[in-house]
Amino acid sequence: MKDDRKKVVVVGSGGRLGSSLLKFLGRAHQVIGFDHKQLDLGSIRSIDEALGELDFDCLFLTGALTAVDYCETHEQEAFAINATGPGRIADISAGKGAHVTYVSTDMVFGGSKPDPYVESDKPDPISVYGASKLAGETAVLEYSQANLVARVSWVYGPGRPAFPEWIIGKACSEANLTLPGDKVCCPTYTLDLIEWMAALAFGSPGGPASGIYHLCNSRPCTWREWGQFCIDTARDAGIPVIAGEIAGVPVDSVPAFVAKRPLNSAMSTEKFTGLTGIRPREWKQSLRDFVIQDGSFARYQLTPHVP
Ligand SMILES: NC(=O)c1ccc[n+]([C@@H]2O[C@H](COP(=O)([O-])OP(=O)(O)OC[C@H]3O[C@@H](n4cnc5c(N)ncnc54)[C@H](OP(=O)(O)O)[C@@H]3O)[C@@H](O)[C@H]2O)c1
Repeated sequence: MKDDRKKVVVVGSGGRLGSSLLKFLGRAHQVIGFDHKQLDLGSIRSIDEALGELDFDCLFLTGALTAVDYCETHEQEAFAINATGPGRIADISAGKGAHVTYVSTDMVFGGSKPDPYVESDKPDPISVYGASKLAGETAVLEYSQANLVARVSWVYGPGRPAFPEWIIGKACSEANLTLPGDKVCCPTYTLDLIEWMAALAFGSPGGPASGIYHLCNSRPCTWREWGQFCIDTARDAGIPVIAGEIAGVPVDSVPAFVAKRPLNSAMSTEKFTGLTGIRPREWKQSLRDFVIQDGSFARYQLTPHVP
């Protein structure tokens, strides 16, 4: 019998998105994952050793240096991991005729547009992280126009704590919380995202999608609104939250932020819907599923860390 399964590589398989993608794609395809220890994106030699002799049809690049404030003071390292390494991966993949999906970020945008950004908007990053990811996008698309860039934002999900675990953890020990009320974005649930990514890579008989696509849950919100809904949902789930209304503050007033954040980096997903017919559900539905229903929300991970 003919084996229709694709040979798939996930680079960054130890991360939040990469670990869920590895599990999900493994149900239908032959998947090999490389975590940070197995493949260092900052080392061309490591990339060559891991992928040079490997036979694969497509590769998902979810690994990255994602610590936005660390990147601001480690520019060379950020560009090596987020741009030069991905370029090398695209080079190797092009040589094998393999398709690459590079996961990028809303932070390629400067944040001054009043409406959600569309794929044809010109990127204008205001942080080293955003600039390094934009350079990664360019490198990956330069090696093959058939490759795909999936821009995502405010990612959370099972496997590694993100903003929801952080704010709910804080809300269990502090009554008075503040969050930026002027920064607007779209949260993205990894368990939704992996299905959208698979639809782009495998859903069409004409082959994998190419170019740039924005992928996030629908309806933009402020950071304060996101945090408020996280703690209200946690309370509904029986988590002993003591915080009430979160007060809004300007994003520029947060002392922990070294890098600038775009004020509005909400993204439109109309292009994705036009191609696949899939309309991403609202972020509040996904968040409720994560905290209450899916069983993947880890209460033991409610420990403060910088989001
Ligand atoms: N998280 C967000 O809110 C967000 C927003 C927009 C875009 N994105 C993009 O979405 C993708 C997935 O993010 P995520 O939420 O899954 O983040 P994550 O959990 O931090 O995953 C990133 C992975 O990359 C690995 N990594 C770091 N440096 C590496 C290196 N030099 N070589 C190989 N691997 C390395 C990390 O390993 P270690 O932890 O072991 O170092 C981690 O497993 C990234 O491309 C990110 O840029 C994320």
